[in-house]
Amino acid sequence: MKVISVASLKGGSGKTSVSIFLAQLFARKGPVLAVDLDHNNNLTDYFLRRTDTGKIEGASIYQALTGTRKLSDCIHAAEEHEKIAVLPATPHLARIGLELARDPGAILRFAKSLRKLDFVAIVIDTPPSLSFELSCALYSSNIVLSPVSFSRWTVQGFALLRDETQAVARATGRSAVLRALPAQVNAAQEEKLRGAEFADFTEAAIHRSAAIKAACDSGRPLKAGSRGHRQFAALAEELL
Ligand SMILES: Nc1ncnc2c1ncn2[C@@H]1O[C@H](COP(=O)(O)OP(=O)(O)OP(=O)(O)O)[C@@H](O)[C@H]1O
Ligand SMILES: [Mg+2]
Repeated sequence: MKVISVASLKGGSGKTSVSIFLAQLFARKGPVLAVDLDHNNNLTDYFLRRTDTGKIEGASIYQALTGTRKLSDCIHAAEEHEKIAVLPATPHLARIGLELARDPGAILRFAKSLRKLDFVAIVIDTPPSLSFELSCALYSSNIVLSPVSFSRWTVQGFALLRDETQAVARATGRSAVLRALPAQVNAAQEEKLRGAEFADFTEAAIHRSAAIKAACDSGRPLKAGSRGHRQFAALAEELL
């Protein structure tokens, strides 16, 4: 089973949209779990758009992390996506770093229970910060996928994520593969990013596209055969 954290310290780089559509393309191969570790719970809203908020608040990743509910009891079936299950987040997740600051074992317990689940792939969306939530994701993963756009601080942000990934590898004795994914770029920007050679890049790239933005913002899947769909399919093939 592949456990893939989608991570970047830069806000708006495309973590959530990549997590959402990668989960959908992986689901062509079998059951997939989409995990939301961001209290700005856009992935949760995409897959559980009409699910009652009280139902999500009573069984979310917050309860799984604090140990008040079994992780498997916090997993919901995604609406309209047969093969996708969701471990959702709510705004309350913003408290988790404060509440569990004295219980670092919580991260290891979470990672262990996640890796025991039976899915073809687990995709984890993360917040744009070095945080308790990001640690939970990195300790659980065998692949760290970082969407990188063409911007002034891309190299510095990626270096911080690499340092964090290496620190987790030292602590666990298991190193995850770290890949940069050119995202929200055009063809010329993709070429410049790759030429800068600051990372191991995926062969696949996700170009800036109004169709991806519209699908992401409106809760719809990408149209089969569209450019965005083809790019995510290539990424899914490369990672699985
Ligand atoms: N390939 C793309 N082309 C055009 N727009 C995109 C693309 N990918 C994402 N977007 C849009 O860019 C915005 C930011 O994307 P997204 O929410 O995925 O980033 P993020 O890294 O998760 O942000 P945050 O750091 O706030 O969690 C969203 O409005 C999304 O619809
Ligand atoms: Mg996001």
